[in-house]
Amino acid sequence: MSQITLTIDGQQVQARAGTTVLEAARKIGIRIPTLCYLKEVNEAGACRVCLVEVQGARTLQASCVTPVAEGMVVKTNTPEVRQARKLNLELIMSNHPQECLICPRSTNCELQAVAAELGLKELRFEGTNRHYQPDNSSPSLVRDPRKCILCRRCVSVCENIQKVTAIAPQERGFDTVIAPAFLASLSDSTCVNCGQCALVCPTAAIVEKNQVQEVWSALADPAKHVVVQTAPATRIS
Ligand code: FES
Repeated sequence: MSQITLTIDGQQVQARAGTTVLEAARKIGIRIPTLCYLKEVNEAGACRVCLVEVQGARTLQASCVTPVAEGMVVKTNTPEVRQARKLNLELIMSNHPQECLICPRSTNCELQAVAAELGLKELRFEGTNRHYQPDNSSPSLVRDPRKCILCRRCVSVCENIQKVTAIAPQERGFDTVIAPAFLASLSDSTCVNCGQCALVCPTAAIVEKNQVQEVWSALADPAKHVVVQTAPATRIS
């Protein structure tokens, strides 16, 4: 496959034709934050936290879905890029429950880690929280649509890797929710409890049930303290 030469942050890089700006940047050690991206599984350009500036383009581009092109000049760390990434993250966070201290994914949450990376310390926007209730019907998983950022990683892994297609986007617009068909519960779906959706979820929208039960039991029992970890969040991907 032919090689493309492009410039990222002043460095020349060679990348295979058909690959993306994100991959080319990673190749030379340039870090670009991502949330919805899962290499070769979910390349949907949904979250827009991976924005970069491409010379000649009228708008900022999502690097995870922008193919490299010969002579392309990319900047990944301009004030405009940083501001746009942060704004997009603020909008994602505006309807995300503020329950990190009692969340089973706290300190192991990609959303939390990207928020720390982008320096998000307070939320300027108060969005409307989704009204869907957690689905506790599965023997092994808990699905909490309130925490879903609609990245679709779980959908891609369920459909394209596991070939199960137990979950998919349902409803439209703000009401969009990742759920089994007809908003059925997981226990009434084709879910095989493989847990791959929980593994790739960047938040706690789908988690293994034992993780949730540990938090519930700690909250219910005053003798067990919920340990609030103060170490900086680290990314898991
Ligand atoms: Fe590129 Fe989400 S990681 S749009």
